[in-house]
Amino acid sequence: MATLKSSSKSSAETLVIGLASDGGTLVIESGSYSLDTKKLLAILADIGATGKADEVTKVPFEEGRHTLLVFTGLGAKEPRGKYPHETLRRAAGSATRALSGKKSADFALPHSDLPEFAAIAEGIGLGSYSFTEHRGASKSEQRAPLASAQIISDVGESAAGKSAIKRATILSKYVHVVRDLVNTPANFLSPEIFVRKMKALTPNLGVKVEVLDEKALKSKGYGGIYSVGQGSANPPRLLHISYTPAKSKKRFAFVGKGITFDTGGYALKPALGMDAMKTDMAGAASVIASLLAIAELKLPVTIHAYACMAENMISDNATRPGDIITTLSGKTVEVLNPDAEGRLVLADGITRAIADAEKAGGLDGLIDVATLTGAQIIALGLRTAGLMGNDDSFAKEFLQIAEKTGELFWQMPLPEELRATLETPVADIANVGDKSGGMLVAGVFLKEFVSDSTPWLHLDIAGPSYVEKGPFGYNPVGGTGVTVRTLVALAESAVSHG
Ligand code: BES
Ligand code: ZN
Ligand code: MN
Repeated sequence: MATLKSSSKSSAETLVIGLASDGGTLVIESGSYSLDTKKLLAILADIGATGKADEVTKVPFEEGRHTLLVFTGLGAKEPRGKYPHETLRRAAGSATRALSGKKSADFALPHSDLPEFAAIAEGIGLGSYSFTEHRGASKSEQRAPLASAQIISDVGESAAGKSAIKRATILSKYVHVVRDLVNTPANFLSPEIFVRKMKALTPNLGVKVEVLDEKALKSKGYGGIYSVGQGSANPPRLLHISYTPAKSKKRFAFVGKGITFDTGGYALKPALGMDAMKTDMAGAASVIASLLAIAELKLPVTIHAYACMAENMISDNATRPGDIITTLSGKTVEVLNPDAEGRLVLADGITRAIADAEKAGGLDGLIDVATLTGAQIIALGLRTAGLMGNDDSFAKEFLQIAEKTGELFWQMPLPEELRATLETPVADIANVGDKSGGMLVAGVFLKEFVSDSTPWLHLDIAGPSYVEKGPFGYNPVGGTGVTVRTLVALAESAVSHG
């Protein structure tokens, strides 16, 4: 990731500059950096630059000590140069992605206060990412992310500016952890390897790690996680990390779906597109990474994160359609469709999270994060996650926080009548119900495992966790790391609002 700095002077050969459009007329937005724009505007118009979002235009040009100018689109010009934070984040991120292979760049983007400065810092941090772990001959310096960035700023050099840079650096680091894990193929990422990799990040953070292996899962009654993982030679795990600072203001539990590969089991998925199911552990990676970020930021908020890890495979040990399992809650489930496995592992994680909290006076919030349904993508598309829950004021609070982070969520209902579609003559509940409203049916299933006194949110990130084609803003192709920034912001908001 790029090392971030704030500076009042420029020093690199490359200078990133904002470009907006005022009703078709190009406007250069370079913040506190002043430059002679006349000639540049003529060149930009000549080469067809428009200043629209995600447009990055490189112009070899001598400007002070700079020899390469990189214009990044801000869209429609805003009066007084006040751009929405997400616009700044994305513009900084697109430019950063276009600077792979470069050692250093200066950023002259419009901002006049700290939150705007912070958004630019985040965009650079999030955009300076590449996944080259498994490249051999095709690995090259050209693919390395931008190594260092200076934001030219009048406001960034204060103590608050330094802490904004530190925060952006920590957030980006853990978003990149999630992206790495999501991008890693399943032959390099079993439940056990996931646990080992996450554990390796914990020293010095003051967190506690607990791991249940397949034997413990079986003997302690985690029938949901166990049954999903039992068909695989790579056995299931429950990873529980807790961060319990002194003078904690609130207590949250995060539960993540961690399917390191989802073949669909005996509801085998078609080969075309199955490769994408290496990303089916994005929820688990996000909840653990969020906890680690919160711990590194030393926020006084108690967090328990649970990663429900299994590989959904076929074999003579795999769960058959129609098998009945007993979850940790004691509820029995008829597994009519082994491809609806996420809700089974989450059911156990939710039960465990609530049980842990009961001894400590309950939870201020329980949030599960999962690449749960293809129906999420059909309903909300690839960039907006579904949000469901049992507590509208918690949902509202979360949505307000997400508004500031730029991560997109949309609240969906949990209609009561869908519960009837999960009825089965042979068990307490079936794992699939009505086909219509599949995202909601999954949420209704999960609700069965949540106590009414626990404010709960379910985040279905099937689409937004991964960019299949066409990188945008600060998101490269591959894992996005979505939910980390909003979960961290939730903890921050608990600190500032008590
Ligand atoms: N992991 C998938 C959901 C998914 C689909 C994530 C596409 C990302 C992209 C999940 O386990 C699944 O297979 N869900 C089924 C549920 C159905 C059987 C009720 C689905 O969505 O088809
Ligand atoms: Zn799945
Ligand atoms: Mn599945």
